[in-house]
Amino acid sequence: MTLQELGHSLKDCQRCRLSSGRTQVVFGTGNPGASIMFVGEAPGFYEDKQGVPFVGAAGKLLNELLESAGLSRTDIYIANVIKCRPPDNRDPLPDEVETCKPFLFQQIELIKPKVVCTLGNFAMQTLLGKKIGIMKMRGQAFQVQDFFVFPMLHPAAALHQGSLNEPLREDFRKLKAFLDRQPEPTTPIEQMNLFG
Ligand code: URA
Repeated sequence: MTLQELGHSLKDCQRCRLSSGRTQVVFGTGNPGASIMFVGEAPGFYEDKQGVPFVGAAGKLLNELLESAGLSRTDIYIANVIKCRPPDNRDPLPDEVETCKPFLFQQIELIKPKVVCTLGNFAMQTLLGKKIGIMKMRGQAFQVQDFFVFPMLHPAAALHQGSLNEPLREDFRKLKAFLDRQPEPTTPIEQMNLFG
């Protein structure tokens, strides 16, 4: 199956309750051969309307931060853990995550990125399969199978809480440093089995 076929197969997804409130499924966007992928939490108001992840205020900040790290949206692929907007932007529920998570893992398997940057606690915990706080993990790379997970703060968190703005920028500086010195990993490595 190609990425496009996977996206197409989810267009009318009715697997969970979020299907009843969404405008459309927000599958993902960007370069299907990207070596760097970004993963957020779930679509918000504008993403639901436009069908594209990170197009609202958090997306504008993300674009600026990508540029600061020498990246652009055409180099990378962006998706969310949850593909449909939760009502009133509430947190996704555990059964919604369980239902939608396999499609994120399929996206990763098809894109085969070298680095998956998680934005916020939620995407990080989904990809590492562990309940650890973002403040301990951010700005470092963790090897998971044949790619690295690089946890970062969520741009929306920095918009809500000004004191997180500088730490978020620091995460992007650390990402750039990590990308510049690849392929030698000097950061903690943990082998985890996500797909089996
Ligand atoms: N926040 C997310 O986590 N994802 C989006 O697509 C937009 C905002």
